[in-house]
Amino acid sequence: MSDKSAQTKEKWLKVMTFDCWHFDTNNISKDRYDTLESYLSESERSKALRFVFNKDRRKFVSRRGALRSILSNYTGCHPSQITYKYGKYGKPHISGSPYQFNASSSGSSAVMVIGQDTEIGVDIEMTSHLNDIQSLLNVICSEEEQEWISLFDNCGERELNIYRLWTIKEAYLKMRGCGLFVNPKDITIKTEGTDPNNWQIDDCEKDQCDLSIASISNDLPNGVLGHVVTKVKNKPISISHKHLL
Ligand SMILES: CC(C)(COP(=O)(O)OP(=O)(O)OC[C@H]1O[C@@H](n2cnc3c(N)ncnc32)[C@H](O)[C@@H]1OP(=O)(O)O)[C@@H](O)C(=O)NCCC(=O)NCCS
Repeated sequence: MSDKSAQTKEKWLKVMTFDCWHFDTNNISKDRYDTLESYLSESERSKALRFVFNKDRRKFVSRRGALRSILSNYTGCHPSQITYKYGKYGKPHISGSPYQFNASSSGSSAVMVIGQDTEIGVDIEMTSHLNDIQSLLNVICSEEEQEWISLFDNCGERELNIYRLWTIKEAYLKMRGCGLFVNPKDITIKTEGTDPNNWQIDDCEKDQCDLSIASISNDLPNGVLGHVVTKVKNKPISISHKHLL
């Protein structure tokens, strides 16, 4: 094999690696909180002041401060010096950096995934018993998905799979940057087998053959479920989980 084709093969086979940072906004000491708050921009501070409830303000400040703290490790910038630019529907990107990131939170759990040179989206949801499954299905699931969900007799399995579909779709739409501006019913998750890592995303508007789904549920606290979706073609992806202390 020539040097060039060997190099190409190595590049092709190389695993695409992402870091997934986890933190709990309830688990932040007073001193740490003050430090995280000091990292915020003027607009983040004024947004924080607009929260009516103290607990919501604390969550926002902890999340945004922690995000800046983590991003500074990748960019080499001081956390307070990180600047964001925003996509058409509000997806934040780090100005002047090859790193792509996306963040999600539910309850006190928060995650941020980061990698280079490819789009990425993440969504986590704290699960709870769903009282009105049909209304939710009507909002988020395509007909094909609704039929699939109806095959589960067991209520727990039905709910688990609804949360799986929901977080995969939202992670995908966040990867694209449009969020719920696009109707999630227009996308169908092809659910072959029981492992969501092997499922495919069918979005008739987009070429979906270069997408990868990765479940992060095993690394989340009990009762929280989540997925990462990335635009990676023909490469295995690997997620390295890290915890912000
Ligand atoms: C993106 C979206 C799905 C987030 O839903 P959510 O479940 O409430 O929140 P999550 O915790 O999963 O994610 C929130 C984070 O996603 C990121 N985000 C915001 N907009 C985003 C977008 N369009 N695409 C991808 N990520 C986005 C931010 O980091 C945000 O963190 P913040 O709340 O600290 O700003 C929802 O806000 C949305 O649909 N937005 C796009 C449409 C819209 O209303 N845009 C208004 C501005 S034009």
